Amino acid sequence: MNVSVVGAGTMGRGIGQVFAQAGHDVILIDINRNVLSSAESNIKESLSRLNRKGLLKESIESIIGRIKYSSSLEDIKNSKIIIEAVFEKIEIKKETLEIISKHADPQAIIGTNTSSISINTLSQYVNGKERFLGTHFFNPVPVMKLVEIITSERTDGKVVETIEKVMIEIGKDPVFSKDFPGFVSNRILMPLIREAILTFEQGVASAADIDKTFRLGMNHPMGPLELADFVGLDVCYDVLEVLYRDYGDPRFKPPITLKNMVTAGKLGRKSSEGFYTYR
Ligand SMILES: NC(=O)c1ccc[n+]([C@@H]2O[C@H](COP(=O)([O-])OP(=O)(O)OC[C@H]3O[C@@H](n4cnc5c(N)ncnc54)[C@H](O)[C@@H]3O)[C@@H](O)[C@H]2O)c1
Repeated sequence: MNVSVVGAGTMGRGIGQVFAQAGHDVILIDINRNVLSSAESNIKESLSRLNRKGLLKESIESIIGRIKYSSSLEDIKNSKIIIEAVFEKIEIKKETLEIISKHADPQAIIGTNTSSISINTLSQYVNGKERFLGTHFFNPVPVMKLVEIITSERTDGKVVETIEKVMIEIGKDPVFSKDFPGFVSNRILMPLIREAILTFEQGVASAADIDKTFRLGMNHPMGPLELADFVGLDVCYDVLEVLYRDYGDPRFKPPITLKNMVTAGKLGRKSSEGFYTYR
């Protein structure tokens, strides 16, 4: 099958890679050419790592050979599945989905990788609401098995069935969620991260001990503050703001410490500084 992924950043490149690994022809599209070249080298590195672990069924060259890189959205025209993975900004997603609608095959399924924007809201920008749904992958995509499949009020049941099959076929293990803010994953994860930050803010325990509590006491692979650093503190802040706004519930209110850290440029791993330092 021919698959397009629009947005070749952290998530888009991983999504493109897993489709290519499963034998699909992939067009990875980004408006930024530098992003496309970094995606290309990242995918090669990721495939080499998987190859060293004996996890690839065929040569790196044949997988890479199925991925094309493009900066033109018109190139989606032959794709049967199109996944949008551009910035988490509603106006950018609106513009992108409108262009996708213009060029896509009328039968193509269109998925969005949004983490926090309503699927019903985004469906307004798609020509053919019944073929649109949320396909929420997790970072790093080649490693994480989960995909949340989120339907709008108008998503066709047959489209959901097709996407479920495709996700299983590319090695993912999907769960289904209604279109409520944060779906399942972030609705439950973000209040945990928030409470961990408040516990730290109030000086109840050190960051290391808060995380150790979850690693050793609950068998989590990472504690909540380590995980917040990994996700990106700016991303955590933005998602909490959306959840707080949409549910109006104080259990989602972004902590002041989190706001201060983000404003100061402490974004977690990606800026080498968050609850921990990474150098
Ligand atoms: N990073 C994560 O851990 C994570 C996890 C799950 C879901 N998500 C979601 O995935 C989406 C992408 O996140 P990301 O972390 O990969 O972002 P990113 O910033 O790494 O990449 C976004 C890319 O979109 C490109 N882009 C912007 N406008 C475009 C357009 N009109 N056409 C083509 N490309 C365009 C940008 O150049 C950029 O390379 C967001 O909706 C985010 O919420 C992210």
